[in-house]
Amino acid sequence: PARLAILLSGRGSNMVALVQAVQRGGLHGLAEVAVVFSNKPDAPGLDTAMALGCPIDCLDSQGRKRAEYDAEVVSILTGYVPDYIVLAGYMRVLSPTFVRAFAGRILNIHPADTHLHQGLHAYEWAFNNRLPETKITVHLVDEGLDTGPVLAQQSVDLRGADTLAEVERRGLAVEHQLYAETLARLLRGDLPTLAGAPAALDSTTPPQRPD
Ligand code: GAR
Repeated sequence: PARLAILLSGRGSNMVALVQAVQRGGLHGLAEVAVVFSNKPDAPGLDTAMALGCPIDCLDSQGRKRAEYDAEVVSILTGYVPDYIVLAGYMRVLSPTFVRAFAGRILNIHPADTHLHQGLHAYEWAFNNRLPETKITVHLVDEGLDTGPVLAQQSVDLRGADTLAEVERRGLAVEHQLYAETLARLLRGDLPTLAGAPAALDSTTPPQRPD
């Protein structure tokens, strides 16, 4: 099975959905959880991960310079020999050093269409603009902010959602199934070739190094 390093900063509901899919759902036999890592020592998701029986690790990012901090995180994560880095509410922009260390093997879930919205507060954005629908996006991470190749998108019907809490409730329900499903398709080699997606998607073919 592919070894996943799941990274979070807070609640961890996407992490729970992924771990459950590994333990008894669509990722069973395809993936295993190498570690659940947080940049915040007090993230509730860390306790939840421990309760689910996952190895956990943490390095506080408070007051740290991005490049320096990320170099340390890369070395911690490398120790767990992950095949994929799965961002699940990891609220830090990754430095180029981090992205290059795991090039083509970092996934993120964004609670909006990344072509229309990048960064934080995507549900507030959809709610404040009274969008009739939004799109949850699973994408590969490149060096930009939410600019990497899209692996999957699923629409969320927001008609009649008249509070931000309701927008989030509907969105998260889609996030929780789309992330595990997309990862399963990726690991089975079932994802259609997407324009701009790196060839490194096939984990048996290591990314080419420029000489
Ligand atoms: C999720 O909605 C996730 O898509 C979002 O943060 C939330 C984390 O919730 N991520 C981003 O906004 C990334 N820019 P969770 O901790 O319960 O999974």
